Amino acid sequence: MTRLIEICQKKIDAQGFVLIQNLSSDFDYQTFVRHWGSLMPQYDQNLQWNVQVKTGITDAKCSLGSVEVPPHTEYYEGESNPPHYLALWCIHPASCGGGKIAFADGYRFLETLSVEEKKYLYQAKYIYRSEIGLRKINVDIAHPHCILTKNSSGKDIFRFNTTGMEAGDLTFIHEFRRKFLNFYEMNRHELYQPENSLLIWDNYRMVHARSSSFTDEKRHLVRLWIKESKAKLKTYSRK
Ligand SMILES: [Fe+2]
Repeated sequence: MTRLIEICQKKIDAQGFVLIQNLSSDFDYQTFVRHWGSLMPQYDQNLQWNVQVKTGITDAKCSLGSVEVPPHTEYYEGESNPPHYLALWCIHPASCGGGKIAFADGYRFLETLSVEEKKYLYQAKYIYRSEIGLRKINVDIAHPHCILTKNSSGKDIFRFNTTGMEAGDLTFIHEFRRKFLNFYEMNRHELYQPENSLLIWDNYRMVHARSSSFTDEKRHLVRLWIKESKAKLKTYSRK
């Protein structure tokens, strides 16, 4: 299993994400993803979150709806650092073929900016607020953050939300958002996550979206937030 972890890490280093397919339905994904760090509580304080359509908010642009979700990084609005890695385990994909997930490499985008622009991203704070779908289930969090910060190891954390991010200098943020969305359209990688597959990505680096809506309301993924990266990989063992 250590070999599988090494292959996954190489893929994540190279492209920011990895999709592991054809796993057995009883694959212990919770233990597996802990090789990347400890699990972080979700909005309801549980260590895993069901990404499923919730009656009454199907049009919400979040994990509980069935419509497209615009590009964002995960948990941008939290007070603490967002999860370093995200994992999605697919129990039941949308049989209609929708519910695709798209990624764009935020670090690559940052390389396209001038030194002055990048410097500004570490200085100007914006208010990041929970998406409206979450507010419908009484999750309403808002905190100010710079678009770029660093974690304790000096790694860049890129926070992005297409519909949030408000502050005084809106001219800059409107232009920044336009530039990023243009980059996203030109460079996004879209995938369909099949049953019994595990998707892991670097949330400090990658911006993700649900790039297509779906009609199969049985679609069911499980989401895990992984707090911090570990320098060394440990030997995998089943529970
Ligand atoms: Fe998300």
